[in-house]
Formats: sequence, C-alpha cells, structure tokens
Amino acid sequence: MNGGIFVTGTDTGVGKTVIAAGLAAYLKSQAVSVAVMKPVQSGAKKVNGRLESEDLALLLKATSILEPLELINPYCLELPAAPDLAARAAGIQIDPEEIIKAYRALAARYQTVIVEGAGGLMVPLADNYTFVDLIKQLKLPLVIVARAALGTINHTALTVSCAQSAGITVAGIILNHTHSATDGIIEKTNPEIIQQLTGVPVWGVIPYSPGISVEQTQLGNIVDLIKKHLKLTWFNKQRH
Ligand SMILES: Nc1ncnc2c1ncn2[C@@H]1O[C@H](COP(=O)(O)OP(=O)(O)OP(=O)(O)O)[C@@H](O)[C@H]1O
Ligand SMILES: [Mg+2]
Repeated sequence: MNGGIFVTGTDTGVGKTVIAAGLAAYLKSQAVSVAVMKPVQSGAKKVNGRLESEDLALLLKATSILEPLELINPYCLELPAAPDLAARAAGIQIDPEEIIKAYRALAARYQTVIVEGAGGLMVPLADNYTFVDLIKQLKLPLVIVARAALGTINHTALTVSCAQSAGITVAGIILNHTHSATDGIIEKTNPEIIQQLTGVPVWGVIPYSPGISVEQTQLGNIVDLIKKHLKLTWFNKQRH
C-alpha cells in the first residue's frame, strides 16, 4: 500500500478504533509493514499520573510497533470534547503541521499507515481547521465506519458528501454493530441502499462480537470477522 488510509466515522463510538485496529492486524497478518496513528485523543484517562489513549492501546496491540508517542499520538487530552476545545482546556493549541510531520515520518518507514480520526469529519482541530482539512493535507483516502442500524443512511450519506465535496477520495464504507441485536429489515437493506445512494462501495457489515473491547484492549476475533465479512478488493490492491 502506498501511503496510508484514514479511518473516520459518522459519529463518535461507531467502531473506528475496532475497525482501524482490525484492518491493521489484518495487514500485519499478510506480512505488510503497518504503522498506526491516533493524531488526537480527547477524553484520555490518567494512569499513574500520565494521560493514556485507550484507542492507541488497541491500535498498538494490533501492530506491536514501537514508536515514540510524538509520532503515533501527538496530542493526548483529558477533556472528553472535540480536539480543539480539549486542547484549549489543557492550555495548548493543536498544530496540524505537527500531525502532518509525524504522519510523514511514519509513512517514510512503513508500507502503510492507518490513521484514526476523532468523532467525525467536521470536528474542529484548531481555528477554522477540521478533520476534512487534515485529511486533505495528508492526501489520504478515506474509509468510513458507520452504524449498521437505524439512522445510518443519513449520517453516512452526509459524511460521503462532505468528503467528496472537499475532494477527498472515499474508498469504502464499513457498517459495524457495536451492540448485540437481531438483524431486521433495516439492517438487511442498509448496505445496498447506502451503496446505491452514495455510489461508494460498502465493503460489508461487521457483526457484534463479545470478545472485542476497546476498553479492555481486546482485539477478539476482529481479523477473522474482517476476512469473513468485508470485500477487501480495493484495500488489497493498494499494496501492489
Ligand atoms: N464489532 C464489535 N463487537 C463488539 N464490540 C464492539 C464492536 N465494535 C465496536 N465495539 C465496542 O463499541 C464501543 C465503540 O467502539 P470504538 O471505540 O471502536 O468506536 P470509535 O468510533 O473509535 O469511538 P471514538 O469516537 O471514541 O474514537 C467500544 O466499547 C468497542 O469495544
Ligand atoms: Mg476510537
């Protein structure tokens, strides 16, 4: 894969970390050298007096890379809020150039870098600067993680439209179940409706799996689920 991929979501809590870590672990299992990056973590917990990112912990478990935090998680903030606000609450401002420099340092040494956003595309990182601006500057293709259930058509179509109108390539959409539920007519028809409406390939639907947990740093069977449920044609093609 040349460069990397940016994993965004239609919202917070839709499964970006689970999918990003799963894709990274899948690539690693295919002998691809892969780095991970969580440019900004807000809502970080203090462990032994130091702020730690749960998301980064799972991403690292997927890849086992050893890299300085300045590169893989340049900003780790305590307030559970949008990055710009969380940074200001900590008395700092996010400098997008720091994130871009860190990304380039990783991209120079790995075949691919999987970058996880925070919240969704229009979340502010700095004054007049959102994740849309960052993704454009990083020149990365986008994978959108969306809920599998009711409400996802609108959020997914809006996210695709926002990305495309900014000139960002949307490589695919992954629907993800964060809770156990029986599929009804909505879950069964959502993939096709979303693909038709947006013109973007829906790679598949990841089921809920109780062994997966970001909070417990457990990858569970995410790699098997990715292999079984996602069409990875585009993703695999990028590596050649
Ligand atoms: N397929 C799944 N099976 C079981 N649990 C899941 C699955 N996908 C996500 N979860 C759980 O749902 C919650 C939200 O997932 P996750 O943290 O990956 O979302 P996120 O979009 O990265 O959130 P944030 O915006 O906070 O970064 C977590 O508790 C995670 O363990
Ligand atoms: Mg996350």
